[in-house]
Amino acid sequence: MTGTRTIRNLALIGFMGTGKSCVGRLTAEHLHLTYLDTDHVIEARAGKSISDIFQQDGEPAFRDWERRIVEELTHRDRTVIATGGGLPVGEGNLDSLKTHALVVCLWASPEVIWERVRGHAHRPLLNEPDPLAKIRQLLAVRSPYYHQADVLVNSEQRSVREVAMHVLHEFHLAHPAGR
Ligand code: S3P
Repeated sequence: MTGTRTIRNLALIGFMGTGKSCVGRLTAEHLHLTYLDTDHVIEARAGKSISDIFQQDGEPAFRDWERRIVEELTHRDRTVIATGGGLPVGEGNLDSLKTHALVVCLWASPEVIWERVRGHAHRPLLNEPDPLAKIRQLLAVRSPYYHQADVLVNSEQRSVREVAMHVLHEFHLAHPAGR
């Protein structure tokens, strides 16, 4: 990564079902920061659900939305950002997040992810005959991106609160003034 880096925000990346939203909300509450979920921003702007964007406009249109939101995030301050699972793969997205945020990746195995997301119908990428295989395949592609996070936190066998406390600790180390 090049250029200057001022950590004003906290960005959570990681696969679907690793707890980014729950951990993000709790962390934001503790830090008295604003919580922002990139998927929610996209849905509000597009005026339709993520599933409808995928279905009607296609995945590349969704990834364009993500890229535009990532650009806008460079102007944010005091925000906990929960990102969509595929966002770090978009060209330049991770580097951009790193210019203003501590990037923390939440991690879980494919089996645990599947246990957590099964029964949720709103994730278009997992509308597949063999969702577990799809999770494995996507994780294999995405792992190199997730591993570029500043901090990797295992979210398995830990409560949301425990993971959030771990994330808070890391954020305080990186951003002592934000205590
Ligand atoms: C996606 C993850 C979803 C959402 C979209 C695509 C992905 O977000 O952005 O369905 O590519 O992994 P969550 O990780 O919050 O479920």
